Amino acid sequence: MKRRTLLGGIAASTAVVGFPNLSISQEAPKRLVMPPLMDATTTRRVRLEAQKGRTLFKGSSRADTWGFNQPFLGPTLRMATGQTTVTEVTNSLNEPISVHWHGLLVPGSVDGGPHQPIAPQATWTPEISLTQPTATAWYHSHIHGATAKQVQMGLAGVLQISDGQDDARELPSTYGVDDLTLVIQDRRFSHNGQMDLSIGMAEQMTGFLGDTMLINGQIGATAVVPRGVVRLRLLNGSNARIYTLALSDNRPMHLVATDSGLLDQPIALTSLRIAPGERYEVLVDFSNERTVTLLSAQNPNTGMMGGGNQSNGSFPVFPFSVDASLPTRITRLPTALGGSRPTADASNAKWRRFSLDMSMGMGMMFRQSDRRFSINGAPFDMKRIDFNVDLGAVERWTISADTMMHPFHVHGAMFQVLTENGQPPQPQNTGWKDTVLVNGSVDLLIRFDHPASEKTPFMYHCHILEHEDGGMMGQFTVG
Ligand code: C2O
Ligand code: CU
Ligand code: CU
Repeated sequence: MKRRTLLGGIAASTAVVGFPNLSISQEAPKRLVMPPLMDATTTRRVRLEAQKGRTLFKGSSRADTWGFNQPFLGPTLRMATGQTTVTEVTNSLNEPISVHWHGLLVPGSVDGGPHQPIAPQATWTPEISLTQPTATAWYHSHIHGATAKQVQMGLAGVLQISDGQDDARELPSTYGVDDLTLVIQDRRFSHNGQMDLSIGMAEQMTGFLGDTMLINGQIGATAVVPRGVVRLRLLNGSNARIYTLALSDNRPMHLVATDSGLLDQPIALTSLRIAPGERYEVLVDFSNERTVTLLSAQNPNTGMMGGGNQSNGSFPVFPFSVDASLPTRITRLPTALGGSRPTADASNAKWRRFSLDMSMGMGMMFRQSDRRFSINGAPFDMKRIDFNVDLGAVERWTISADTMMHPFHVHGAMFQVLTENGQPPQPQNTGWKDTVLVNGSVDLLIRFDHPASEKTPFMYHCHILEHEDGGMMGQFTVG
């Protein structure tokens, strides 16, 4: 096979023999570009500005989009654990936004949830002190009732928590070369090139499901990787779509980290399910230089709700191609990662139960304002604190979801999955998590080390953003 050299996303224009006036510039593979890296590990400063932009996704007309410091999505922030980072978030949009640090173990006062709106033209300056292990987190707007729209417009980005030890762990760590940040989202576009945010009837239950894959905001791009072991930091930044990922030649993905940190050792998987809000880090070996495509099975909730595209076939998420001229640093898989796999004793823990409820009356014809989504029968209320947890407490939480699958997320804490439907957790849920896909019932053990007051409580909610906006959310204080 011929190897192509790809130059930073610029496709070569090649004249077609016999058709001197034609060129096939659109046919050349487009190289996937990483979000810009804002490394705060030495500067200890992060500056974000939410702004309007125009983004050319496809065709020739640009879509209206929002982003942080750029037209769509935001930079990858890298913050050091053990340090304090001074952040400055300015809102240059015309409506209130917030910036929630999803996965950061910080007090409610800097969590950036719905009680901390940033007004248009205002600047929010939380100081973020991190003590948690290295992990891939993310950040996104979290205004109650507007999260789905604001994230879809682009107010989201990846946040790496770094302890600087990845080289010692023999993990790939060269940003954008053998350490890829991959924001997976689905979108729909209208004829004029704009993003179509409308919700069809079935999506009123499933949440928004697009027909076009965006990776880091790009359509149809190829991830060009070195010959060797490559780390993929996967974020499902979609509103509602659940992906069941596999590589087209069935080669293993070696799971090394879940939402809240590294495992003790890699787990080889040929299939990995990732729900909205979740992050997984996997290593893939490209030493045989063969091209391969990341595929996904259809959204499992679509079949359960009987709507939309019911085809069982898989679809491509994005392809990889190997460029042997890129530097290879890691050629074998690490055996010990230094992370911990949780084991804790649940016997003394206080037990709380949560049922994720949807009401399906009125022939499924309703608007989100009807608030058909709730937890334990109560739709979210900004003015109601649902409960208090003691600072330092370990609790057992049982979350159940009968009608469809819901990714359940908790702010300000990480947890371990004890059981799924009474069985030991599936391998991909054996690490530290802050979001877990509930398909039936999940039992987890969660520890609260960060305070949250009534003014800025922590949220727990379904991370299908239409469900969250529609009321499948609650709030609690710690202290
Ligand atoms: Cu990723 Cu409460 O959110
Ligand atoms: Cu969160
Ligand atoms: Cu849900």
